Amino acid sequence: MSNICVIGTGYVGLVTGVCFADLGNSVHCLDINEHRIKNLKNGVMPIYEPGLEEIVERNVAATRLFFTTDYTEALADAEFAFIAVGTPSGVDGEADLTYVRDAAEKIAEVIDHAIVIVNKSTVPVGTGDWVSDIIRKKRGENELEYYVVSNPEFLREGSAIHDFMQPDRVVLGSMHRQAADAVAGLYQPLRAPTLITDLRTAEMIKYASNAFLATRISFINEIANVCDELGADVREVAQGMGLDKRIGHAFLEAGLGWGGSCFPKDVKALAHMAVLHGTHPQLLQAVMEINRNQRRRVVMKLRNLVGGSLIDKTVGILGLSFKPDTDDIRESPALEIIHLLRNEGARVKAYDPQAMENTAKIIPDLELCKNPYEVAQDADGLILATKWNEFKQLDFKRIYSIMHTPVLIDGRNEWDSQSLRELGFTYFGIGQGNHVSAGA
Ligand SMILES: NC(=O)c1ccc[n+]([C@@H]2O[C@H](COP(=O)([O-])OP(=O)(O)OC[C@H]3O[C@@H](n4cnc5c(N)ncnc54)[C@H](O)[C@@H]3O)[C@@H](O)[C@H]2O)c1
Repeated sequence: MSNICVIGTGYVGLVTGVCFADLGNSVHCLDINEHRIKNLKNGVMPIYEPGLEEIVERNVAATRLFFTTDYTEALADAEFAFIAVGTPSGVDGEADLTYVRDAAEKIAEVIDHAIVIVNKSTVPVGTGDWVSDIIRKKRGENELEYYVVSNPEFLREGSAIHDFMQPDRVVLGSMHRQAADAVAGLYQPLRAPTLITDLRTAEMIKYASNAFLATRISFINEIANVCDELGADVREVAQGMGLDKRIGHAFLEAGLGWGGSCFPKDVKALAHMAVLHGTHPQLLQAVMEINRNQRRRVVMKLRNLVGGSLIDKTVGILGLSFKPDTDDIRESPALEIIHLLRNEGARVKAYDPQAMENTAKIIPDLELCKNPYEVAQDADGLILATKWNEFKQLDFKRIYSIMHTPVLIDGRNEWDSQSLRELGFTYFGIGQGNHVSAGA
């Protein structure tokens, strides 16, 4: 059993904290957001993540899991301080390290015993050294025994608990092997392959992994667009490619492009780092451009299918979160599409099982509906933006009867095009050879 403090109670910090508690450690989860901590103390989750609430309850009851806004309290007995605060995009695409700096300074201010500082936030290469400098400067004469370890997180929202408990790998980077080994000990019950590197290499593994996954998605989307023009079906192309063991099936689903809290900012930050250090990240630039175009392409397609203009047309959006099983809307393709549609004069309404509250905070005047049928009512076009389970088997007869113009844009290649066309819909999927077969 170890004493752990986790700084930041977002998607990564909270999951990390509760999972370490569930493994038998004593964990203090700390956040500067008082409302968040008050809610957590009352058993109210700040995020939607399947299975999270139950584990929180179990570990609070077992007095292994505590929530606080007080750094002194959280770090009093801590052997490990995990930093899991946000690292959003700065103005030039660089990672904004303001929150990491604040956390490092606070640790330096209050700690009075030896500690391993573990950075779980996704941070530019060299940040571990920078955190060390911050602490050294802040402490001045008042020296502290501390070690910095990079421990990038690879969990996916929507399956975060599973991903934390059964990771493909644990990556640890440090200039102090013993500190890295000590952190490896915390993960030992998971029996996951563990890679120990130097600090900078671990930091780069995270960026390179996310950039590679984003590249695969942009790659298949580019192929999808070519398929559309040539009458091939990208779903079967991806299947045929994926059967090759050197390629595999993962991240080869054509759609509206990647979004979320990580890929967009991480690809940007990696490109920024590359330029800053004199290299020319042409592939990363192309990956980002393809992604931007993917949203524009469906709007263009819809415009063509409803007669050449979206002015005063009603468009329904099914799904707002960037992917299913999360309420996270950061860089969600749905939001970008809503923005583009409204710019062209369309009236937009939407529904999402979990993400409407978050969406209302940033697009307060968006018409939010109670269910998919309210979205479809009188619509000239319906766009499937997020692959939630509840959108898989809708009553399409009913939808056909209530839409003003029965145009479906299947942004996730989820629906059965043939049966929908038989019902009378004009159907457009991504890379299904629509251009040729639908004559659109
Ligand atoms: N969300 C993911 O799926 C995911 C996956 C892997 C890695 N990451 C990385 O993990 C990091 C955290 O991401 P997230 O999605 O959990 O962020 P988040 O925005 O959901 O949560 C960050 C939390 O940190 C808190 N915070 C900010 N400054 C603080 C401070 N000085 N002290 C204490 N708390 C502070 C905020 O109030 C917030 O609750 C980012 O670097 C991200 O790139 C995220």
